[in-house]
Amino acid sequence: MTGRLRGKTAVITGAARGIGRAQAVRFAEEGADIIAIDVCGPIESVQVPPSTPQDLAETARLVEQAGGRIVTEIVDVRNELHDVVDRGAAEFDGIDIVCATAGITSRGAAIELSEAAWRTMLDINLTGVWNTCTATAPHLIERGAGSMVLTSSIAGLRGLVGVAHYTAAKHGVVGLMRSLAHDLAPHGVRVNCVHPTNVDTPLIQNDFVRSGFRPDLDRPPTRDEFATAATQMNLLAVPWVQPVDIANASLFLASDEARYITAISLPVDAGSAQR
Ligand SMILES: NC(=O)c1ccc[n+]([C@@H]2O[C@H](COP(=O)([O-])OP(=O)(O)OC[C@H]3O[C@@H](n4cnc5c(N)ncnc54)[C@H](O)[C@@H]3O)[C@@H](O)[C@H]2O)c1
Repeated sequence: MTGRLRGKTAVITGAARGIGRAQAVRFAEEGADIIAIDVCGPIESVQVPPSTPQDLAETARLVEQAGGRIVTEIVDVRNELHDVVDRGAAEFDGIDIVCATAGITSRGAAIELSEAAWRTMLDINLTGVWNTCTATAPHLIERGAGSMVLTSSIAGLRGLVGVAHYTAAKHGVVGLMRSLAHDLAPHGVRVNCVHPTNVDTPLIQNDFVRSGFRPDLDRPPTRDEFATAATQMNLLAVPWVQPVDIANASLFLASDEARYITAISLPVDAGSAQR
């Protein structure tokens, strides 16, 4: 620990597992206290196995092991978040950092998606980010400083096949980030996006998503088969990056080292955006 976030408090959505958990643990290692939010349950139209309250409890254990304090809240980011954010801010005396990380995936060709799948995607992956920003912004404004890190995707930089709703939502997050950066700059608050390529998390490592990478097979591909297909997406010879790689980029954007960086898109994509 080098204390790059010493004395700061971070709100992190999607904190029960995957990238959100990695951000919580990495930030705690650097001295932050954590307000961890997750729905910890199934979402309609999503076939990826849901996270659980036990997953969120494990994040809490890891944060405390890293020396951080943490409060957890089980709540859906589609809901109004002011109350849970205000409770956490009262516990830790304010908020400095926001990671809007909660997100889902599902699949379908653009013209074949059900309206329900489209709406659920936009409600969580875009409106959920807006809910997170609007509930937390007053606290950062009160501080006169702060950093928001919105998790987009390489699907926020280019079109991807079979996930038009995801791609639309992730491009929407970039638009939200750019406008918010204007709105909040007078208050000393920075807003940026990270854009991961495939990350080794439950979101991507399940039969349903893997199958989309190997439509030629009549069974879900194995992890190795998926790895071979996924490697073609990146310039560097890796199939996916690790959650800590996204957490490290988020840490940089959240820290004072990035004090004059706002309104940028930071790919953590092994060169995927150049493919
Ligand atoms: N894994 C990847 O390959 C990848 C690539 C690019 C971008 N992303 C993005 O990174 C973010 C995190 O993904 P991950 O890979 O860690 O996935 P994950 O499924 O491992 O974790 C996502 C977490 O978000 C939570 N969540 C989902 N919907 C929610 C809601 N409505 N309210 C509150 N919490 C909710 C889930 O319960 C889960 O704990 C997502 O926004 C995703 O789109 C992931």
